[in-house]
Amino acid sequence: MKTQVCIIGAGPAGLLLGHMLRAEGVDCVILERRTPDYVLGRIRAGVLEQTTVSLMEQLGLDQRLKAEGLPHDGFNLADGKRLIHIDMARLTGKQVVVYGQTELTRDLMDARRERDLQVIYEAENAALFDVESDQPYVTYLKDGMEYRVDARIIVGCDGFHGPSRQAIPAKVGQEFERAYPFGWLGILADVPPCNHELIYANHAHGFALASMRSQTRSRYYIDVPLTEKLEDWPDGRIWDELAIRLGPEAAAHITRGPSIEKSIAPLRSYVFAPMRHGSLMLCGDSAHIVPPTGAKGLNLAASDVHYAAEALIAFFRGNNTDAISAYSDRALGRVWKSERFSWSLTRLLHRFPADGPFERAMQVAELDYIASSEAAQTSIAENYVGLPV
Ligand code: FAD
Ligand code: DHB
Repeated sequence: MKTQVCIIGAGPAGLLLGHMLRAEGVDCVILERRTPDYVLGRIRAGVLEQTTVSLMEQLGLDQRLKAEGLPHDGFNLADGKRLIHIDMARLTGKQVVVYGQTELTRDLMDARRERDLQVIYEAENAALFDVESDQPYVTYLKDGMEYRVDARIIVGCDGFHGPSRQAIPAKVGQEFERAYPFGWLGILADVPPCNHELIYANHAHGFALASMRSQTRSRYYIDVPLTEKLEDWPDGRIWDELAIRLGPEAAAHITRGPSIEKSIAPLRSYVFAPMRHGSLMLCGDSAHIVPPTGAKGLNLAASDVHYAAEALIAFFRGNNTDAISAYSDRALGRVWKSERFSWSLTRLLHRFPADGPFERAMQVAELDYIASSEAAQTSIAENYVGLPV
């Protein structure tokens, strides 16, 4: 098969990019190794920045997002005793929208036939070849048969463990990495949220986050050592810990219920540079990971797609490679700022095993400063709503 762009991975980055290219008449094919149900079964991000919402608007695929997404004007930090309100709308004039990654992915998936976007699911063993040339290609297996896609450009949207980043020679790329000594234990339950806004809490017991998917579905997280097993966390133990960590005001409004999903995700900061090599571009988690504190992962994938789509559309219209050459620097500029924000919020809100009383006192002092300073709140708010693309 021959196409202009072969995209590897049909997560949010791959599907968004595919739709943006098809909307401008660029030919593309997406290869996804999982089934549609598997992709939709992954419960991940929940908060969309305006830039991500705008991409869905631009595609005309925002009907359900408009109807069911929950616009939020603010969120709260908590220090175990009180809530520190960050009024994003007043401080920045912007909002975020609570709408699950699953729902966004479903909207993009549902529109693929009507928009003539070809996604090949259960495409196994994708392998990239000749990425340094103008005629790169990808091979994959489907139902035991080997296929080949010849393209002008390959875009790796295949997440952290996909093959695309590995196709860039080690001597060309540089990795920047920080692993954290804890993971987030998440629970999804059909109960009303404990607050109309999100709460990110730093308590002496550790981190907690109260989030939601709708007025009747809540998403909560606590941090746990990486050695913890899910079996050791029956629902009751998670609810008890949330009630302690979120503080008395939130605890009074927690409704408990059986979990419908539970998982532990490790936390990592990671950047791979450059995000383009020859005819291969990387978007989203294939090039970078942020710890989830600050809700930047999905939104960064969307801003990469914005830059990549612009570059590819310019290239296929005028055969001008300038925008493609500039892609990595443009995308990384925003990536590094989001990495910094996610890292600093993670540092502020979690208990690190190596921390002593001094580090704890610094966290308490910083939260106290944020509570008293509009300048500090504005800085957090402008990062949380998303820096301009
Ligand atoms: P992905 O969503 O990972 O999509 C990559 C796609 O590529 C997948 O569908 C995968 O099956 C496919 N793929 C992989 N290898 C191949 C291959 N060889 N061939 C073909 N296809 C392949 N962010 C937040 O903001 N908040 C959160 O709470 C949060 N929780 C997370 C929990 C977990 C467990 C993980 C892993 C991530 C979480 N994130 C969260 C991050 C956020 O979900 C990601 O940043 C976002 O999914 C990035 O989208 P993506 O399309 O780049 O990658
Ligand atoms: C959610 C996840 C996050 O990482 C975050 O910062 C906020 C909300 C969520 O899953 O709802």
